[in-house]
Amino acid sequence: MAANLIVVILMLISLLIPNSNARKEGAKEELAWLQNICCTGNEKVVKLHFFLQDVQAGINETVFEVARASISANSPSNFGLVRVLDDLVTAGPEKDSEKLGRAQGTITYIDLETSALGMNLNIVFTAGPYSGSTLCILGRNPITVDQRELPVVGGTGIFRMARGYVIGNTYDYDTYTEYGVLEYNAYVSYFDDSSIRTLQGDQ
Ligand SMILES: *[C@@H]1O[C@H](CO)[C@@H](O)[C@H](O)[C@H]1NC(C)=O
Repeated sequence: MAANLIVVILMLISLLIPNSNARKEGAKEELAWLQNICCTGNEKVVKLHFFLQDVQAGINETVFEVARASISANSPSNFGLVRVLDDLVTAGPEKDSEKLGRAQGTITYIDLETSALGMNLNIVFTAGPYSGSTLCILGRNPITVDQRELPVVGGTGIFRMARGYVIGNTYDYDTYTEYGVLEYNAYVSYFDDSSIRTLQGDQ
């Protein structure tokens, strides 16, 4: 009697579970990875220190205007101005220092009164221990403040499921050449799956 009830319950449950054949093999593996990683407590914390070479004019310019709002020209805070950038990311402040990757994204002036940017910034690592991975920095950047805090909302590669924050400041800015060097200290946690990979390899 009880056994029959259990069989009925199991059948009902199986009806509620989506047909796994409907999922692609790759998607199944992604889900398995996520299920493995998320409850293991294998969160790792790193501090990343790097510089953005922010070239706003000249032949090697990496920051370009995309659009303006009707108010931008008369706005004390450039409200509505949108720029796109692809800045070199270096390990040190000098422009010829070790190349780590690029900082690519869009910035929008989003405050009517003071200069503040809405950031959509992707740090694309092409060298060093995080080569091939990206970090996504998103949020409000109050550029008049000396030390700016920005959220790290995610990443790819090693930085899958990353979160954290960045403290940024202007390391150097030449008003004549419009060459800026921005210093970023990123405090990031992410799920380290290397121990899981080792375990699976041992099986
Ligand atoms: C532009 O970049 C090239 C190649 O890195 C460099 O040799 C040159 O000095 C740069 N020019 C300026 C004005 O920074």
